[in-house]
Amino acid sequence: MSAKPSNPRTVAVHAGRDPRSQFGMINPPVWHASTVLFPTLDALDQAIRQPYEGLVYGLLGTPTSRALEQAVAAMEHADRAIAVGSGLAAIAVAIMPFVQAGDHLLVSDGAYGPTRHLCEHWFRRWDIETSYYDPMIGAGIADLIRPNTRLVHLETPSSLTFEVPDVRAIVGAAKVRGLKTVIDNTWASPIFFQPMDLGVDAVILAGTKYIAGHSDVVIGFVATTEESWLPVKRAAAEFGHHATPDDCYLTLRGLRTAAVRLKQHEASALEVARWLQSRPEVRRVLHPALPDHPGHLFWKRDFTGSSGLFAIELQPCSRAAVAAMVENMALFGIGFSWGGFESLILPFEPNGLQRVSTMTHDGPLIRLHIGLEEVSDLVADLERGFDRLRHVAG
Ligand SMILES: Cc1ncc(COP(=O)(O)O)c(C=O)c1O
Repeated sequence: MSAKPSNPRTVAVHAGRDPRSQFGMINPPVWHASTVLFPTLDALDQAIRQPYEGLVYGLLGTPTSRALEQAVAAMEHADRAIAVGSGLAAIAVAIMPFVQAGDHLLVSDGAYGPTRHLCEHWFRRWDIETSYYDPMIGAGIADLIRPNTRLVHLETPSSLTFEVPDVRAIVGAAKVRGLKTVIDNTWASPIFFQPMDLGVDAVILAGTKYIAGHSDVVIGFVATTEESWLPVKRAAAEFGHHATPDDCYLTLRGLRTAAVRLKQHEASALEVARWLQSRPEVRRVLHPALPDHPGHLFWKRDFTGSSGLFAIELQPCSRAAVAAMVENMALFGIGFSWGGFESLILPFEPNGLQRVSTMTHDGPLIRLHIGLEEVSDLVADLERGFDRLRHVAG
C-alpha cells in the first residue's frame, strides 16, 4: 500500500487529523474564533498579503474548518476544499467567480431547484444568461456552447428524476472549448464517485446530507483544483460565507462513518427499490442502479455504489390517496433534505421546474430516502401505506 491511500473509505477515517500534534487525541478540537491576534506588525502585514492561507480571522477559517476541508479534499481527490454554510452557498460560490456580465452558462436541466433560482433570479439580474441542457445530452452539449459560454454545471444524478448523465462526454466537450466545469456530487458523495478524476474543476457537496449524515447540520463544500481554489475561496470570503466551528466538528465526526452508513443506505435502498418494482401500485422506480434506468450504464461505468435516495411513480391516483399513504407512515417522515439516518417520503412534481427534459408521468411521483432502519420494518410501513392508498383510491 502506498503511504498515502486514496480510497475514500480509508481517507474518511484518517484525513484531516494529526493526533501527534494534539496530545495524542484523535479528534481535532472545536476552535471558536473571530479575532486572531498577531504578535508583530510584520506578521499582520503577512496576513494581509495572504489572507486565505494562514489563520487570520474566524470568518476565513480555523484549525477545525481547515481539518475538515483537508479531509473533504482528500476524499474528493481534489487539491483543496472550501467549507461554507450550506450546500446552496457552495453552489453559488462554485459558479460565481467564473462568470460575469455578458457571459452564458449551461446548467443541467436536472439541477437542484434552488440552483435554478440562483441562475434565474440573481445571475440574470447581473446579465449572466443560463440555458438548460438535457442531462442525457452527452457529447451533444458541444452544439449548445456559444462564444460567450464560460461554464458548464453538472449534477449527477438529476435531482428528483435521477437520470445519470455521461459526465465524461460532457466534461470532455467543455474542456476542449476551455470551459470551467462544476458538478454537484451530493447524491453519491465521494464515497461512491470522485468526479475530479474525470477532470472537473470543482465539485459541489451539500455536506448537510451524507457527509454530516445525522440531520442536525447544514454545511456545504466546494472541492477544487489548485487553480480554481483561490477564486472560489475569495468569492466565499467576500460574500461572507462561513461554516460554524460546531458544524465543522459535527461534520468531521459524521464523515468518519460516511462509508459504512452509505453502504447500508445503498443495500437497504436497493432492497426496497426492488420490492417496490413488484408492487401493483407502483408504475416505475427511478433508481440509477436499476438496469432500465436512464443513464444506468454511465452510473455503472463511473460510480462504485448508489445511495439511499430514489423515486417512484405511482399508478394514477388522487392527491387524497397519496395523502392517506404518506401522512400516516410509522417510520417514514415527510420532510425536506435527506442523507440522515432516518427514512423520508416526499411527493414532488418536477415539471414545474424542468425546461428541456420534461419528464412525462401519469401517476404521482414520490421521493424516498431509505434510512438505516431494518428493511423489513420499512417494507411493512410502505405496505400499510399502500393499503391506505388503495382504500382511498377505491
Ligand atoms: C443535490 C443537492 N445539492 C445541494 C443541495 C443544497 O444543500 P443545503 O440544503 O445544504 O443548502 C441539496 C439540498 O437538498 C441537494 O439535494
